[in-house]
Amino acid sequence: MEISRQPGSKLKLALDNLGSLPAIPAIAQKLLALQLDTEAGEAQMLALIEQDPQLFARVIGLANSSAMGVGRKINDIQSAAMLLGMKRLKAVAIGIATMSKMDNQPAVKNFDPHDLWSHSMTVAIVMNMVSREMPKRVRPDENQIFLAGLLHDIGLMALHFLDLEASEELHHQLRLQPRRPICDIEMELFGMTHGHIGAQLVQHWQLPKEIIEVVGLHHSHDIADMALGNPLVRLVNIAEKLLPDFGISEHTYEAVNESEWYELCIDPALAEELSASANELAIQVVQLPDTHDVAQPEVMLGQRKVGQQTIRHAAPAVSRPAGKPVFSMMLAPVKALVKWINGLLR
Ligand SMILES: [Fe+2]
Ligand SMILES: [Fe+2]
Repeated sequence: MEISRQPGSKLKLALDNLGSLPAIPAIAQKLLALQLDTEAGEAQMLALIEQDPQLFARVIGLANSSAMGVGRKINDIQSAAMLLGMKRLKAVAIGIATMSKMDNQPAVKNFDPHDLWSHSMTVAIVMNMVSREMPKRVRPDENQIFLAGLLHDIGLMALHFLDLEASEELHHQLRLQPRRPICDIEMELFGMTHGHIGAQLVQHWQLPKEIIEVVGLHHSHDIADMALGNPLVRLVNIAEKLLPDFGISEHTYEAVNESEWYELCIDPALAEELSASANELAIQVVQLPDTHDVAQPEVMLGQRKVGQQTIRHAAPAVSRPAGKPVFSMMLAPVKALVKWINGLLR
């Protein structure tokens, strides 16, 4: 592909004129405003999804996909909701609605937007896993965790949507410079980061402040100061550091320091175990063959607790042998879910 002389020039124009950014889908806006703490709220959410033919078709179609391993035909949104649970369904539906608003651009040589889904879903799952080590009084709601994980890199999707050449150049450079953090490369190429681009977009969409902070600050060095009182930002940041480059490359794999664990009220002694778990998760999601061995939804999405007797890690994350089936019972559904989400957008 021929690269323009000034990568990101189209991007700058688009961000100078916020009106040129895609509008938030109405369904996402309504879902965001919904409270799920009453039966009426839950019913309203299901009705909203049902009334959106595209979203409904995708949810039902994929609830019936072999990856979900359900032995009966699912035709209604209530049954589909039982597969995920209400809170996760809400986050996933918002994620699908917002991301699919921008998924009409083709994949380029070095970036396929569907890989961003694998990455975002895995980050959300690792965030959920890490959050279970936080005391309940400071732990964010699972709904928020999933939304934050799914949307944290929406700036990369926006970049791809707004300026295909700039997107290709960024992912090309990420491959050429495998040790250089993504934000350094972005600043050099465009003078702005995907965090900034994404934050502009979600601010334009009037998403909750916590999500705007997650999108804008998840790679920041000053999270403790800038996102005070919003543990979601540190959760994303830690999940990115724990995971190897996965789905997309951001080159964020590094040690989490003690003060970062303390910010979440997590004992740093758990660091190695959590790191091993995240690493194993990524390896297994990539390596597991397609499976029909899908557990029930209640055991999906990192429900296990690190430190329990049933889960033990013998070696540091980076040296673990690939494919060791330590978490196969948990990871089969994770793999299925990632596949399911990918399928939703195809
Ligand atoms: Fe990022
Ligand atoms: Fe990321």
